[in-house]
Order: sequence, then structure tokens, then C-alpha cells
Amino acid sequence: MVGIDKINFYTPNTYIKLEELANYRGVDPDKFTIGIGQSKMSVPPISQDTVSMAANAAYPLLTKNDLNNIDLIVVGTETGVDESKSVASFIHQLLDIHPFAKSVDLKQACYGATAGLMMAVDFVRLHPDKKALVIGSDISRYGLNSSGEVTQGAGAIAMIISSSPSILEIEEVSVSMTKSIFDFWRPNYSKTAIVDGKFSNEAYISFFSELWHEYKNRTARSFEDFSAFCFHLPYTKMGKKALMPLLDAEAPNNKDLLLEHYQLSTTYSRDIGNIYTGSLYLSLMSLLESTLSSLKENQRIGFFSYGSGAVAEIFSGKLVPGFKDALLTKQHDTLLNDRISLSIDSYTDMFNDELAIDSEGNHLFKQDKTDNGVFFFKGVENHQRLYGKNKE
Ligand code: COA
Repeated sequence: MVGIDKINFYTPNTYIKLEELANYRGVDPDKFTIGIGQSKMSVPPISQDTVSMAANAAYPLLTKNDLNNIDLIVVGTETGVDESKSVASFIHQLLDIHPFAKSVDLKQACYGATAGLMMAVDFVRLHPDKKALVIGSDISRYGLNSSGEVTQGAGAIAMIISSSPSILEIEEVSVSMTKSIFDFWRPNYSKTAIVDGKFSNEAYISFFSELWHEYKNRTARSFEDFSAFCFHLPYTKMGKKALMPLLDAEAPNNKDLLLEHYQLSTTYSRDIGNIYTGSLYLSLMSLLESTLSSLKENQRIGFFSYGSGAVAEIFSGKLVPGFKDALLTKQHDTLLNDRISLSIDSYTDMFNDELAIDSEGNHLFKQDKTDNGVFFFKGVENHQRLYGKNKE
């Protein structure tokens, strides 16, 4: 049995209330909170980037035993900090993982962390005495006053994969699908993503429908074999748009259960926003850590991973006995409730704050007082990114 032994997330300490943003933009707040289904959006200070957020998500999970036995570090990201050097290589050093590990990034929009999870699971199946660290870390940026502005966010998830998982066994059957399309992309020369919003919604929905039919044919499973389905959530209404049409023919009990669990899986995303690669795994934590969830050991959870461009996968996992004891529910509660709400002006300043590297390749700055990350980005010296670690 191979699967998720530990799981955590990190999001920066500052956010904006979307009701306030709606009022400022002259939009009915119900469009953001009901129509799109988002309440708050994490806004990262310049001192939190894809590397520091990834380190902050992984750090609380790691014991000495993990540090000595993680032979693979794989980071899914579409907002990496270097065209050549991997985020994983920074993480390897920041977390002090033993030298004889391999560290690599995988990219395919929001699907990257799932590719990493599948790679890690296969790796541990082959080497059951070893572990793998899988991370999804991203800053979602569409631009101020753009149609995607309300679906931005920032955060990272981290999972340890082992052959004695405490949370979720990943089952062997899965089905993937690829179609090269331009629904969302970010050319190398652009700091913000380009998105065809309506087309990306349609692509997401049709990928889920086509994949589900293929999955059903290949596995002979139906929705009755699942107690819950977790989705990649660019915004919390998205998964429901894809799931609802396929539930029409389901018995009312089963349909209600899946929709109830869907709702519980959206709580964290509603208050953080889109974290791209980590979003699907944030849904899993939101579902499992909800006090309202009736999920029990050995029940099956389905997963729909979608990365624009586009690659998707449906896979499944079974809850391991005692899984609730392995969750970091309290820590997550504190992380989300202790955040600082930004004014519109501070949000705009933070969004526009960027590296101003001089001709020698330098720009160093102090960690923002509001930034509570254990790891933080210090700036660039001689074209090299530097990171700091606070004493705990
Ligand atoms: N009260 C309640 N709901 C309202 C409303 C109001 N006053 N005004 C609008 N809405 C609803 C709309 O009916 C719509 O609901 P529906 O999708 O169920 O029909 C929803 O709010 C969004 O409205 P829409 O006009 O489609 O918004 P938009 O043109 O601003 O675009 C996105 C929304 C999500 C497409 C846009 O934010 C985007 O491009 N996001 C980034 C890309 C993305 O996340 N893609 C998803 C796949 S990965």
C-alpha cells in the first residue's frame, strides 16, 4: 500500500476581502461571493515566493527519519523562479534533506503536482523503504482589474508519500487525457497569465465528462463507488459546474452525499483563492479536516486534476484507518484565522511590488513585518536568489 502519509498547506499571512474588492471595482459583491464562490484571496508579500511558500508547507511535516529517507523531491509549479534551476533544488537545501536525493520540477499548469504525486507513488512502489516529498506551490496572477482578478491566490501544499501511509492509499487505476489548447497560458515574456475565461470553463467541464466516461468504461466503477470527489478549484463554483450534469441520473441519496462532500472540500479554497498546482490537495485537506465530514476509513475518494493547456487525470484513493489523527486541522485553523486583512491600497501596492535588480544583479530587502513565514525570500545578490529562516 502506497499513499499520502502526511499533508500540509501554507498560505501567506495577508489577504483581501472580496466583498471590499467588489465594491471598489463597482461590481455586485454577490457576483464574487455567490456567482464565483470566493470570499477571501491570499495576497503574497514580495518576501513570499514559490520557493519560500513550498518550504513553509513542507517544513512542519519533516522528522529526522523523513530527512534521511526522502530520496525524491518533486515540485509541481507553473510559477517557478528560474528558467533552469528547479524549485525542488532550493527546497532540498532549505529543508536540509540528505545529499543523495533527486530534486526536480514538473510543469503542466495546475496539473503539475498530480504528475509529481504519480511519479512519487511509482517511485515508492519500486523502493518501499524510501519516501518522496511532493509539493505544489504557486502564485496565481491575472492582473489588477482583469476578469480573472477575483480568482487569484497564493499558496503551497506538501505531501510525504510512503509505503505505510497514515492518510490515503493511492489506488493503481487512473485515467489521463491530453489536448493541446489555449484556454490559459503564460508566455515566458509575461508576468501575468493570459486566459480565455469562458473557453477554460468549457474545457474543464468537457475534460471531466470525457474522462469520467473513459474511467467508468475502464474500471466498471460508478459514482456509487465513491464517497466524495475532490476537484482542482480555480474558484469554488468550478468543480460543481462539472460534477452536477453527471449526477443527474444518480439516486438522490448518493447525489446529496457527493454534493455535501463537494461543499466541504471548497472551504479552504473559498478563503485562499486559486493556488494552481496545490488546489486539488487543498480541497482534500478541506474535506478531511471539516468537522461536518462523515467520511470513514476505507471509503473511496475520487480526484479530478486539471491543468490548462490541457492535461487532466481522474484517480482515486482509500482512507486509511486512523486518518483523522494524522491531519493538521488545528494548525490550519490558526493559520487561516490569524491572517491580516489588507486595504485596497495595500493590496495594490503588494501586487505591484516587484524585484528591481540593478546592473550588478542585486536587490535585497527586509522581510515584511506582516509576513509570518518561517522561510522567506531575502532578494537577489549577484543574480542568485537568497532565502532566510526565522528562529521559531
Ligand atoms: N449575483 C450572483 N451571481 C452573479 C452575479 C450577481 N450579481 N453576477 C454574475 N453572477 C454569476 C454569473 O451568472 C456566473 O455564474 P455561472 O457561471 O453559474 O453562470 C458567475 O457569476 C460568473 O459570472 P461571469 O459573467 O461568467 O464572470 P466573468 O466573465 O467575470 O468571468 C471567470 C468569470 C471565472 C471566467 C473569470 O474570473 C476567469 O477568467 N477566471 C480565470 C480562469 C479560470 O478560473 N478558469 C477556470 C478553469 S481552470
